Amino acid sequence: MLDRFKREISYLRISVTDRCNLRCTYCMPEEGIELMNHGDLLSLEELAEVVKVGVEKFGIKKIRLTGGEPLVRRGIVNLVNLLNEIPGIEEINMTTNGIFLEKYAQELKDAGLTRVNISLDTLSTEKYKAITRGGDIEEVKKGIAAAKIAGLSPIKINAVKSKNPDLEDLNRLKEYCETEGLKLRFINQMTLNSGEFSQVEGGSSGNCKTCNRLRLMANGDIKPCLFDDHTYNVKEYGIEKAYWMALESKPEKGTGTDKHNFYSIGG
Ligand code: 5AD
Ligand code: SF4
Repeated sequence: MLDRFKREISYLRISVTDRCNLRCTYCMPEEGIELMNHGDLLSLEELAEVVKVGVEKFGIKKIRLTGGEPLVRRGIVNLVNLLNEIPGIEEINMTTNGIFLEKYAQELKDAGLTRVNISLDTLSTEKYKAITRGGDIEEVKKGIAAAKIAGLSPIKINAVKSKNPDLEDLNRLKEYCETEGLKLRFINQMTLNSGEFSQVEGGSSGNCKTCNRLRLMANGDIKPCLFDDHTYNVKEYGIEKAYWMALESKPEKGTGTDKHNFYSIGG
């Protein structure tokens, strides 16, 4: 479906939960996180129904599951199964921090997941622990290995680059990715209310002119743009109308949002 600026919208990013097992410094505040009420979440069946309408009526072809951390959502493998049964979906991808991937990689692949992006900003055990406020990098490495074995490839690594990056550390990460056959993409650290956002090096996001996406949040809000406050809830308007409203209000360019956080949108 074309939006007002003749962009073909074919990509839906779904934040399946705003919960996460990590607390990355650039994503979550240390405390005082406002989480969605469980009662506001769409069920797995409702999420799949929203996708089905998106595919049949609006030309959605590609799905990305994000969070928070998608692998902490109960029934996530089942959701992949449900999505995989919808005719017309070409890809189901996931962005995960990788901690639980060792456990889920094969099940996800069997359920129909196409690929994974794994967030990893450093190769230093101590730095990883500091950035994620407690995460164990060994779990991520095991997750990467499991994803490879399961054939969830090509695997992309998302590295958030700080304003003053440690170049030696980044070079180690580059070398690691080359040896392991992983595609490394750098994302400049952003703040959502600043309007200061950047293109992902080696990725397709961040370019408003060719933006092909809508976002669905765990509570059923359809969000036309990461850097915009508008949302249209499928429970309030009905699925089809919520899509229409999101399409009609998708801005030519993102500006900024005060209402949302990375952990509820999934980047
Ligand atoms: N700036 C840029 N990227 C971010 N992410 C989370 N917070 C930020 C931020 N402030 C990224 C994560 C992950 C993706 C879901 O979003 O690193 O790769
Ligand atoms: Fe969790 Fe990802 Fe946010 Fe880190 S960046 S706290 S892993 S959602």
